[in-house]
Amino acid sequence: MIYVNEENLEFHLSNGQISYIFRVMESTDIMEQLYFGEAVDVYPTYDFLVEREVKPGNNLLEGSGTTSLEQIKQEFPVYGTTDFRYSAVEVEYPTGDSISHFAFQKYEIKQGKEKVNGLPTTTGDPEEVEVLTVFLKDRYSGLVLELSYGIYRNFPVITRQSKITNYDEQSMRLERFLSMNLDMPNEDYEWLHLSGAWAREMQLSRDKIITGVQHVSSTRGATGHMHNPMIAVCTPETTEFSGKVYGFNLIYSGNFLAQIELDTYDIARIQLGINPFQFSWELAPKESFLSPEAVMVFSSDGLNKMSQSFHDFYREHLIAKQWQTEARPVLINNWEATYFDFNEEKILEIAEKASSLGIDLFVLDDGWFGTRDTDNGSLGNWVEDKRKLPKGIAGLAKKITALGMKFGLWFEPEMISKDTPLYKKHSDWLIGNPAKNISHGRNQYVLDFSRPEVVEAIFEQMAAVLRDAPISYVKWDMNRYISEAYSNQLPAQRQGEVFHRYILGVYELYEKLREAFPNLLIESCAGGGGRFDAGLLYYAPQAWLSDDTDAIERLKIQYGASLGYPLSAIGSHVSVVPNHQVGRLTSLETRGNVAMFGTFGYELDITQYDEADSDKIRKQVEQFKAHQSLIHKGDFYRLKSPFESNEIAWMVVSKDRKEALVGWYQVLSRPNPSYQRLLLQGLASNCAYRIDGSDQVRKGRDLMNIGLLLADNQLKKLGEQKQTIEKADFSSLLFYLQEVKED
Ligand code: DGJ
Repeated sequence: MIYVNEENLEFHLSNGQISYIFRVMESTDIMEQLYFGEAVDVYPTYDFLVEREVKPGNNLLEGSGTTSLEQIKQEFPVYGTTDFRYSAVEVEYPTGDSISHFAFQKYEIKQGKEKVNGLPTTTGDPEEVEVLTVFLKDRYSGLVLELSYGIYRNFPVITRQSKITNYDEQSMRLERFLSMNLDMPNEDYEWLHLSGAWAREMQLSRDKIITGVQHVSSTRGATGHMHNPMIAVCTPETTEFSGKVYGFNLIYSGNFLAQIELDTYDIARIQLGINPFQFSWELAPKESFLSPEAVMVFSSDGLNKMSQSFHDFYREHLIAKQWQTEARPVLINNWEATYFDFNEEKILEIAEKASSLGIDLFVLDDGWFGTRDTDNGSLGNWVEDKRKLPKGIAGLAKKITALGMKFGLWFEPEMISKDTPLYKKHSDWLIGNPAKNISHGRNQYVLDFSRPEVVEAIFEQMAAVLRDAPISYVKWDMNRYISEAYSNQLPAQRQGEVFHRYILGVYELYEKLREAFPNLLIESCAGGGGRFDAGLLYYAPQAWLSDDTDAIERLKIQYGASLGYPLSAIGSHVSVVPNHQVGRLTSLETRGNVAMFGTFGYELDITQYDEADSDKIRKQVEQFKAHQSLIHKGDFYRLKSPFESNEIAWMVVSKDRKEALVGWYQVLSRPNPSYQRLLLQGLASNCAYRIDGSDQVRKGRDLMNIGLLLADNQLKKLGEQKQTIEKADFSSLLFYLQEVKED
């Protein structure tokens, strides 16, 4: 998959779906980008892609009459080589300047891709992936840069990661070190990003790329509710199902930058990596720094295909093997049912009822430890509250497992409250400069996870609880950002390392838990979707997407998240009405029909439900379990966008295209509506499908071109369709389609 022209030093990575081409530039030995997109032929040389023209006003590299990098597409640009755009790496040298020149030295190709130490990355067996690493040596110091490119046989994906090693005798300071840079000729591009805030995360925006710099980022110590490190760049005519799209995602959970710089020569520079904001890393002699991994996906069939490629790729090469195949438990969580106000009796009451309705797992949320009756304290004191749980967590967990259910427990490992023994003993373990303002958020403070001893101490506390009781699931929450980065243990010149070291500490705790409790299923959470990213998916195959559990709001949040993340990663629950975040009343059916396109569970006081509603819940659980494999492993299609229309639809089709599940939702009911047909996608044209709940059998081709009729057909000629649009706000329909075998 990796073609190298040894003479011209040209590299072409191609798997028949995509091509990525770059070369070593004449005379400068700098890496020049030539092409990324649809697969193209392998040529003896790519000279014809090289663009050289000295423009008036260009500064030229010393010793060259023709070379200005001002408008040349590059692989990993630096400052001081006539390029005035943002660089991918910026080093502060002992001399105080930042002038670099990384020149090609050698390359290496490896079969297979292993996990690197300390950072989450995608992996693959030798027959699945090849990795090209290009080594570049700095002309002015002993710094060596390694740029790695992974190409997978079956995915339109290139992975990128960069590493820098200091072989010099003096320390250098990294001020900017990104994971990838891609310079592309502009085609009137637009870009998509996922922005929002707490309880309204993942709002999909599509904007024109304007000349100059635009970016989304985080400066909060976590990827954040506000922006996501997933962006896409597409041509203006691109739709869900046609047109060119380039998707970019960073496998990282801390401060990120996803930037697009469109210059006045019509080159769009796309950069992803650790946010240089508040970042400064001292690289001592013999030390290396490794960037997080970035993933680039190309699709010539629109946004939907790009999303499916991300979904497939993450399901197969990022999420831990065990959780690729094992069915996720349908859970019930007590948070919105009780908040902090519960005791063993209440919890058991909920669990008993849940178990009788077929729910697999009970998750005990916040409030089980210390003396935590409000969100005012006890974080860091991971000892059960015997007032609420007289037999402790072990006693409760045993009773719940005796019901035939699994038991899960909430932790917020990275946080500390000032009323805890931990704080009394180690007040310096808190992030912040004691001589200056240290803000609180939700009455709590952040533990300094840049310190290995802090990570170890929290691991020990968590491990003691997990060893003592039959716990198969942990919900790992994180409810505030870092607002004053400062570590009491790091010297002054290393304070710029706190943010990244912190997130490495978070990964370290995940690693430790995974190693000590290999069968533990961890769901990540950060006040909902405050840290929903591919980095954490490596450790925690599912994430609580949002604290907003309203079904109608969730349509947007789940739709947005599907841009880059598979449904098996999307934590989604049916909660009580009136909804606690927006006060809206929606039916149990609609709440179920939305939550079903995710990991699925309940978050309400199930004991309050009468027999009729309990029966509905039992049936929803059965329905989800019957389709779980289809939902979690199939191809997801976005059909109608909640950002554009009152009617929303999506569907999943199994890989063998023998079955599909379609969700249709209406926000507000309309008087005397026009007929509605829903054009399906992804079915096998010739396959005949039975539509569950009706006696209709229709060919895939017909369902994709004529569509599914959503109004009642009173002639009944096609057979009765039991499900039709209800005259009600917030109504929904779910259709299951299954292949009918011809006799
Ligand atoms: C925020 C989470 O998103 C909620 O689901 C819940 O776990 C609370 N924290 C508990 O404090």
